[in-house]
Amino acid sequence: MANTKEITKDNLLEVRNLKISFKTDEGIITAVDGIDFSVKHGQTLGIVGESGSGKSVSTWSIMRLLPKNSIIDKGSSIQFHRKSGKVVEMTKLKANSRELRKIRGGEVALIFQEPMSSFSPVYTIGNQIVEAVLQHRDVSKEEAEEIAVDMLDRVGISNPRQRFRQYPFELSGGMRQRAMIAVALSMNPSLLIADEPTTSLDVTIQAQILELMNELQEELGMSIIFITHNLGVIAQVADEIEVMYLGKILERGKTKEIIQQPQHPYTQALLEAIPRLDRLGERLTAISGDIPSPLSRPVGCPFYTRCEKVMPGICDIEMPKPTQLSETHTVYCFLHEEKDV
Ligand SMILES: Nc1ncnc2c1ncn2[C@@H]1O[C@H](COP(=O)(O)OP(=O)(O)O)[C@@H](O)[C@H]1O
Ligand SMILES: [Mg+2]
Repeated sequence: MANTKEITKDNLLEVRNLKISFKTDEGIITAVDGIDFSVKHGQTLGIVGESGSGKSVSTWSIMRLLPKNSIIDKGSSIQFHRKSGKVVEMTKLKANSRELRKIRGGEVALIFQEPMSSFSPVYTIGNQIVEAVLQHRDVSKEEAEEIAVDMLDRVGISNPRQRFRQYPFELSGGMRQRAMIAVALSMNPSLLIADEPTTSLDVTIQAQILELMNELQEELGMSIIFITHNLGVIAQVADEIEVMYLGKILERGKTKEIIQQPQHPYTQALLEAIPRLDRLGERLTAISGDIPSPLSRPVGCPFYTRCEKVMPGICDIEMPKPTQLSETHTVYCFLHEEKDV
């Protein structure tokens, strides 16, 4: 049964007990294992964790953009506040329903790492933005063209009228990433999901795009879920951060709490893996030890096989309960659980 507790007013999105598995030839893989998160109106939630943590699966599920072999557990709840004020339980929408199509793109938009694959090579950039606008907003073709040019301009593309007539291959990687943001924003979404949108870009362009997203958020008042494997990047854009590992949330808090007082050994390891916060482009130097296969998830805390502070007989028995460190800061770790419970 989905959790029917009503979404709080501050939240645009509330995800409760989200569990997602995949049917594969090797068996059932649990990719997301009962996580909670929420996004406040006009704010940015950062989700951070190494590759394979379940960041993409958990957020693409909001738009129901998962492959056919995926299963969203019945106990999961994804409540979304529509522009109309109506609260929708996204897990209950039929895959091809009109409501889902309206929300997808029109209210929740997605940008991701490879803009080349998100554009068709045979239509101009302008054409593709106009199509997107026409699909989701009630405007004429001429108005849609004006919106498209305006958006290209706002995302920092010079000569927007000329760019409007160019094809994706004629733009540089940074320009295409900006154009993808323009497509997403021209639909005027209330939630933008940015899934590692800057990972393949060089450092200077990454910094520009992050700044641009901050500016546009202030101007347009949308909420953002920003996904990355790099805590240094997320520190620049997020109000709150969730740290994910092997389908579980291990720590959450305000950005300042996570960056300045990280309490989970995994969060601490992620932070140590960033040589300098101001060097945006660097890949994480690996945390030692291999990420276990999702087919043989460790019992207990998923991180215990790599944790420097592992307590045998405790961490490998069950998942620690949440410990509230402040009103906003929560950690899931036995080092913090009350000893005398
Ligand atoms: N189509 C799929 N079939 C089977 N397993 C999948 C599929 N997509 C994702 N997974 C599983 O879900 C896990 C989480 O994936 P993902 O959300 O893409 O991680 P992240 O975005 O954090 O790198 C992967 O490690 C993989 O085991
Ligand atoms: Mg991903």
